[in-house]
Amino acid sequence: EPRCDRNTNIFLIGPMGAGKSTLGRLLASALKRPFYDSDKVIEDRCGAGIPWIFDIEGEEGFRIRETQVIEELTQEQGIVLATGGGAVLKPENRNALHQRGFVIFLRTTVEQQLARTNKDRNRPLLQTENPRQRLELMREIRDPLYLETAHLVIDTDQRPPRQVMLDIKKKL
Ligand code: S3P
Repeated sequence: EPRCDRNTNIFLIGPMGAGKSTLGRLLASALKRPFYDSDKVIEDRCGAGIPWIFDIEGEEGFRIRETQVIEELTQEQGIVLATGGGAVLKPENRNALHQRGFVIFLRTTVEQQLARTNKDRNRPLLQTENPRQRLELMREIRDPLYLETAHLVIDTDQRPPRQVMLDIKKKL
């Protein structure tokens, strides 16, 4: 495992609704590091929201943008980066994340994901008849990818973000 000093990047991975953005922001401010959210960077660069990008360019187009942003941001030093839930789908992203920082998999339950993403129109992959089934399917495909990419696994279920943040701080 990489030693986590001031220059080591901290990368948060995990599914939608695991708390990556919330925790990333908390952790960055506690550690006085810059915080980035890859979804936000993509939106800012594109001048459009995630749902629009999915509509116009498809998931494939979004993934190309995401891979570009991850390739760039992982070359920073000492940042905290929250990634999108699907970032681990591309092997080049898994490698960049694993090799260029300390990667934390924020693990949670489908129940918690549903509660946290309830009525969130900003997640095109959940605009379906059966979001629960969709989340379960994604979990089957992605959990092994999160596990192989991570240096540390943290459970966020039923715990307030501040407590999870303090837990992570101790384990860096
Ligand atoms: C996605 C997760 C989203 C966003 C996009 C696709 C996914 O990010 O990147 O909607 O494939 O799981 P969050 O995990 O921040 O919701």
